[in-house]
Amino acid sequence: MSSATGTRDQLRYLSIELTHFLSFREAKIELGDFVALVGPNSSGKSNAMAAIKLLRDIPIHGLPVAIARRGGFDQLRHRSSGRPYDPGIRINFQFGDAKASFYEIRLASLKGKQYEVKREEAKIYFGADEYTFVRTRDSIHWRDLIDGKAYDEASSKRRVRVPPGQSVIQFAFSEAGFWVSRVLSLTQNVEINPSRVGELQEPSSTREFEPDGSNLVSILELFDKDERAQLIDYIQSIVPGVEGYKIVHLADKLSVAFVQNEGAQGNREFLAKQMSDGTLRSFAIFVALLQPVRPRLLVVEEPEVAIHLGALHTLVQILREYSADCQVIITTHSADIIDDLDLDDIRVVWSEDGASHVSLVAEHSREPVRQGLITPGALLRSDALDPLSA
Ligand SMILES: Nc1ncnc2c1ncn2[C@@H]1O[C@H](COP(=O)(O)OP(=O)(O)OP(=O)(O)O)[C@@H](O)[C@H]1O
Ligand SMILES: [Mg+2]
Repeated sequence: MSSATGTRDQLRYLSIELTHFLSFREAKIELGDFVALVGPNSSGKSNAMAAIKLLRDIPIHGLPVAIARRGGFDQLRHRSSGRPYDPGIRINFQFGDAKASFYEIRLASLKGKQYEVKREEAKIYFGADEYTFVRTRDSIHWRDLIDGKAYDEASSKRRVRVPPGQSVIQFAFSEAGFWVSRVLSLTQNVEINPSRVGELQEPSSTREFEPDGSNLVSILELFDKDERAQLIDYIQSIVPGVEGYKIVHLADKLSVAFVQNEGAQGNREFLAKQMSDGTLRSFAIFVALLQPVRPRLLVVEEPEVAIHLGALHTLVQILREYSADCQVIITTHSADIIDDLDLDDIRVVWSEDGASHVSLVAEHSREPVRQGLITPGALLRSDALDPLSA
């Protein structure tokens, strides 16, 4: 029996490292309970979040589909004036207080916009136990160290073959692969498209919330009584008139109807299609928060879009409370959101010399905030939220 089983639920994402990935040449994004990526349009915020989405798509859809969903391998590689290099992503995480674990994948191009996995590596630590694999172009080695005893492919005689364009984590041969799959699939990107939420939806049997909200009604069907009550509570804090919701079946499609209190006129029902973008967007974000397979890392891109200022404070408050159980990353242009944050929660993203960069807030920008002379939001408004290493 492993001495550290109790720590397996205490997963914490530490950082993401990007190499030649989209607009990044080399970058490390330190994570926390609640982190906000701030920076000009086109600076690379969404590109950084795309790395998390790509990693999640590997165990759920497989590496080829994960890459195709991003527009293909050629689109993934960092393009600059020089020759294109091979892209890589590394995610660092930790179980309980064990040593930091990681998973890393590097791709290389083949002829004709094709790619292969050049290297894939994981080291997972639970207390003193260690699960590892290293995959290169022509070999795969795995090794488990459990209660001081080592097991590997030689001792178990389990040989693995994986096609060059696939990730090894989808092939069940080692504990490390299993845990990496779990860690990657427990992240969730939320990029709600209100028109996809509003239109009639095809029933879907997946339990995975689609980032744009296009299978929201099918996810809603999985909610229990408590989740339904919590969802109504959340949505009422943003749109007070909404009393509840109902799932509606129209021919072979699904939608959701909102019950709205119209004062003296009593309650009226409106199909999602008729609801405002802000209502649909915040509703979908809440469904993502409450989905049955709860994420451990949630990415919400620009929560401020289409949301009234007063409601925005409430939404951010809800996200911050949620971040006690699930790490949250937001991207934002909103000085009002930034005003509510600690400077240590802010990651400044900027573009320079044809590449994106990320860093903490510079000391000279922090000092006036500490002295109470200016707020972080006011710094952002006056374009003075400088990064540590520009
Ligand atoms: N493969 C690539 N190589 C180099 N640069 C890229 C690559 N793919 C995208 N880019 C650059 O990244 C930019 C988009 O960055 P991104 O979407 O992350 O911006 P953002 O910070 O989210 O901006 P916004 O605030 O407008 O959403 C593109 O305009 C392009 O210049
Ligand atoms: Mg963006």
